[in-house]
Amino acid sequence: MAISTHEMLKHAYDHGYAIPAFNIHNLETIQVAVDVASELQSPIILAATPSTISYAGPGYLVSIVDRAIKENLLPIALHLDHATDIDMIKSCIDYGFKSVMVDGSHLPFEENVEMTNTIVSYAKHKFVSVEAELGRLSGIEDDISVDRREAKLTNPDVCGRFVEATHVDSLAIAIGTAHGMYKSQPKLDFERLRDIRKTIEIPLVLHGASGIKNIMINKAIELGINKVNIATELKEAFGRAVRRYLINNPNQNDPRHYLTPGKEAMAEVVRSKIILCNSAGRVR
Ligand code: CO
Ligand code: CO
Repeated sequence: MAISTHEMLKHAYDHGYAIPAFNIHNLETIQVAVDVASELQSPIILAATPSTISYAGPGYLVSIVDRAIKENLLPIALHLDHATDIDMIKSCIDYGFKSVMVDGSHLPFEENVEMTNTIVSYAKHKFVSVEAELGRLSGIEDDISVDRREAKLTNPDVCGRFVEATHVDSLAIAIGTAHGMYKSQPKLDFERLRDIRKTIEIPLVLHGASGIKNIMINKAIELGINKVNIATELKEAFGRAVRRYLINNPNQNDPRHYLTPGKEAMAEVVRSKIILCNSAGRVR
């Protein structure tokens, strides 16, 4: 059975490192992430967005991840990423997801609290951990598209009130990153991160980490980020390698052949992110 992210993130919080959360899209992404994590002895989170779940089917995802957990002595958690639909989140919990993100970041503060609370009370007695979001990232992640003008950074002054009112396990914050690929290197608001860290004592989550310089991610982890989400960089590596292979081998029709370079390219990304998060060797 999948495990919750609570203990994993708590350990990262206590010891000052981050858990990498890889957005998975298919069997191949799951295999690669788990194999490399196992080799490096790193706990990992496998994240699925609502559109991945409708693509792959929640039952298949839960079963594949359960299999991975049985075959590896590794903390592996299946996490629902960026869900905005209460019924959909509840149904994922019923399917066996042990970690969910309820994304009420588009709502006014009180409504975000209310929506988050609905999920926390459903999740708590099923030992499912809950991530919420305060502030809003720009960019596109699957079905959610946020214009630059609608994006807003997290206000440190309301974080304490939010955590107290919801009892969430972790909080996604906006400090200047965006979803998708960057046209130019963004400036992260480390002062804001420092202020947020001072007001609340739960693990903080960095979304939109693809394409951010390593030195900036290191600094964010040092200042209190305990979960780093990686989506776009995996997709890029996979797509690029498969495309190149098919251009060079236009008659190849066997997915086991043309997907293999995609898997190898993703493995390099997973490896570098685990090292970046300083989560290697953390399996106890
Ligand atoms: Co310890
Ligand atoms: Co995100």
